Amino acid sequence: MQNFWRLISYLKPYRKRFVLSFVLAMTTIGGDLIVPMLFGWTISRGLQSGQMEQVILYAGLLVMVQALKSGVNYAQWLVQHQVGQSVVRDLRDQLYSRLQALPPSFYRNMSTGQIMSRVTSDVEAVQEYLGWGFLIQMMGATSFIGTSLILLLLDWQLTLVLYLPLLVLLVIVYHFDRHIGPAWDAVREQMGVLSTVLQENISGVRVVQAFAQEKRENGRFRTQNLLNREKNLSRARLEANSFSAMDAMVGLTFALLAYFGAQRVINGHGDLGQFFAYQWYLWGIIWPVRFMGWLISMMRQALAAAPRLFQILDAPLTIADKPEAITLQHVRGEIEFRNVHFAFEDEPDRLVMKGLNLHVWPGEVVAVLGSTGSGKSSLVNLIGRFQEVTDGQVLIDGHDVRDVTLESLRRHIGIVPQEAFLFSASVRENVAYGNPDASEADIIRAAKLAQAHDFIMEMPQGYDTQIGERGVRLSGGQKQRLALARAILVDPEILILDEATSAVDTRTEHEIQQALEQVMQGRTSIIIAQRLSTIKHADRVVVLKDGVVAEAGTHAELLARKGEYARIYDLQYRESDELLAEMQQYMAAQDEAYKLRPLAA
Ligand SMILES: Nc1ncnc2c1ncn2[C@@H]1O[C@H](COP(=O)(O)OP(=O)(O)O)[C@@H](O)[C@H]1O
Ligand SMILES: [Mg+2]
Repeated sequence: MQNFWRLISYLKPYRKRFVLSFVLAMTTIGGDLIVPMLFGWTISRGLQSGQMEQVILYAGLLVMVQALKSGVNYAQWLVQHQVGQSVVRDLRDQLYSRLQALPPSFYRNMSTGQIMSRVTSDVEAVQEYLGWGFLIQMMGATSFIGTSLILLLLDWQLTLVLYLPLLVLLVIVYHFDRHIGPAWDAVREQMGVLSTVLQENISGVRVVQAFAQEKRENGRFRTQNLLNREKNLSRARLEANSFSAMDAMVGLTFALLAYFGAQRVINGHGDLGQFFAYQWYLWGIIWPVRFMGWLISMMRQALAAAPRLFQILDAPLTIADKPEAITLQHVRGEIEFRNVHFAFEDEPDRLVMKGLNLHVWPGEVVAVLGSTGSGKSSLVNLIGRFQEVTDGQVLIDGHDVRDVTLESLRRHIGIVPQEAFLFSASVRENVAYGNPDASEADIIRAAKLAQAHDFIMEMPQGYDTQIGERGVRLSGGQKQRLALARAILVDPEILILDEATSAVDTRTEHEIQQALEQVMQGRTSIIIAQRLSTIKHADRVVVLKDGVVAEAGTHAELLARKGEYARIYDLQYRESDELLAEMQQYMAAQDEAYKLRPLAA
């Protein structure tokens, strides 16, 4: 019931229109109540009087009222659809903006397929009901009550007899209503599951094909699709049973009318005109009854869909601005982690950070090192408040990140995430995503710094080339470079690279590295990288282990210390580093020799 009223509350902004629609609907019903009377008069007063003028008078009146009713009906239909579609638009808008604001934990718990099916098909179900089901329900009730009164006035004894089948019908309706709700719940839920399977399969279609798992995937979909069919069929069976039983009762009512009505006319109770009027009136209670099952089903479907929408609308915004949050204006780029404890919401007992302390100075370049799963990504996510500390504080220029608005905080941070995401849009739009007003020159400058300009120019339409799902496919390294250009273009005071160059080749990374030296001038940079060249250039290297900073210092300092860093260095880098040094020596010698040659000649 709570869901019902909450759904109805969406009509509120359109109450004027809704009331108009309701008044129009009631006018139609009023017409319905007059027309049979006129028909009865046409026969009893017109036909039986034997005067054609009388017949034409009443028949003419009847036609006029009928025509008026059609016009009103037309207007009502239009207004009602406007209301319904407006409500749907509001619902979708609300869902969409909520989805923009929800934290990562929400997305870990609800699959994309579920979300898609809710925003599309569940909203649709709500629309059908609020769009017209609800109004027809009210019209039906009015028609039923109004007609009943007239029928009782016309012939109360006959009417009471005719109501007997309707009592049986009430029982059927009660039973139907109790079962159709859960049936719709099951259908809507299954639709969400089906969408999830579909969505994941499409996103992962390359993996499916690469491992030749089409058969298994088809099977998986078929299972869910079959379940979908079953759930819908058991709902349809319920409807078929109840609807036909309801129809049978309607038939019975007419049979009773034919019998008792005819008897009363023969016995001289009431005239033929009244009999016909009475029969026409009967439709005024028959249609609401016949529609009732269907309307109940529609309402139950909407009420099954509604909580699925409310679940999104009510999902807590765990990461949101405090009411008194301040706007972060100018940022120097000082970052401090103060005794930070962090665990993911779904695993509160497993601490990823256990009292981590780190102070990064404005303009400093810090390389973060640590094994997979040591919490590097989590660390940088805390800076932009994409995750929330469990305990302790993250401060930017001395402000706790929770005390400033998210928008102003994130405006100062340029982040290149581990998985670069590009939109289905042109290269230019993708690069300028965070700064849509950037000039062409700035875009090109950023792309050049990210070593992306050359490959962009090789693409069919250069910066206008469409990329993403519906366009040119890019390699992992190319995507990363565009993501880097995107971050550079924002010109952030704090630059964060989370394994941002893991997919580019060594040579390109070297070039990016050189370009970055320039980019990082005057910015605080936190770089999570695997390659030694990047690490060596950092002002400071921070090694994460067991949820704390195990070591911090320059490359040389940490090597001399012979601790964790030295161990990692021995394991991963020493060989390549020595090789590199040898190569550099060799190349220098070659250069020397080349320089000497002209002299020797
Ligand atoms: N969404 C998540 N929910 C729960 N645990 C997670 C989630 N993401 C990562 N983890 C876990 O948190 C730890 C730190 O992850 P992460 O910060 O991504 O490490 P890194 O970037 O160093 O590889 C890992 O043990 C990982 O398994
Ligand atoms: Mg990571």
